Amino acid sequence: MPPPKPDSNSRASFDNPDFPVNTPRMPIVNAADIVTTAHEEGYAVVQVNTNGGNDDLTRAIVEVADEMRSPVILGAYEANLAYRGVEYAAMVMRWYAERADAPVAVHLDHGSRPDVCRAALDAGFTSVMIDGSHLPIDENIALVRQVVDDARSAGAGVEAEVGELQRLDPDGSMSEVKNLSDPAEVARICRETGLDMLAVGIGNAHGFYRGRPDIRLDLLETLAEAATVPLVLHGGTGLERDVVAGSIERGIAKVNLGTLIRTRYVQFTADAIAAQEHQNHPWRVAQVVVERVKPLIREFLEYAGSANRV
Ligand code: 13P
Repeated sequence: MPPPKPDSNSRASFDNPDFPVNTPRMPIVNAADIVTTAHEEGYAVVQVNTNGGNDDLTRAIVEVADEMRSPVILGAYEANLAYRGVEYAAMVMRWYAERADAPVAVHLDHGSRPDVCRAALDAGFTSVMIDGSHLPIDENIALVRQVVDDARSAGAGVEAEVGELQRLDPDGSMSEVKNLSDPAEVARICRETGLDMLAVGIGNAHGFYRGRPDIRLDLLETLAEAATVPLVLHGGTGLERDVVAGSIERGIAKVNLGTLIRTRYVQFTADAIAAQEHQNHPWRVAQVVVERVKPLIREFLEYAGSANRV
């Protein structure tokens, strides 16, 4: 990865030995492969969302993975791709992934339709999530089968979901916990689709939890017995270390983190500007924010136990 930029830009030039050299080093990987390895070895790979291929977030994630010798998944949530477009976002994420020493995958998060997943695969994503969790199970299965067929020809992995995930109310409360997955549906979707990873509902949700969430590790144990693939835990923001560790012990091998990172990115940017740390250079704001967001990513990769695995 490129080294941090020098503090002064007055001497920045191609002749400076610290000037970033950006040679591709590592073939980009499929999330299904690194998650399967994690499942076998008892840790989880973290998917950190890049807010649709944001350059600073992508850089921070990959530099942390390199530094910690940890595999990582760069996630892009479908709705966040509206700004950069799927091809440009894929290019940014692939650029960093290919220049890492650590294995890095590029994953579409919560794809809504097969044609969206197809567009992501065509753009160079190495795995996709097709989210039919709001549909009756028969329709969810039919949808996943379609995407699995498509992904196989692209050599890519597929994640699906049973037990629709909730969004938290703005104050962090959940009106009712209704995303508890059904073990029979878990068994069916594994058996009938050929998917690689399955997201389950165990009381988790996207966003900031108010207080400690009631994550149902007892249910997770039953779901893992019914599943034939590694399970995925969405809603990483606000989960404590012991909950993440307990989930991994019971079959989770991929954990998604989004809200914490994007909200802190905005806050750190505002702070850097308010403190006049920019000297009117946008890249100086980026440099400050990338360094401040890294400890949050580092901490979560530690929770997942993925450091020093590569
Ligand atoms: P959080 O935004 O709650 O961290 O969840 C991220 C996620 O699950 C993305 O799919």
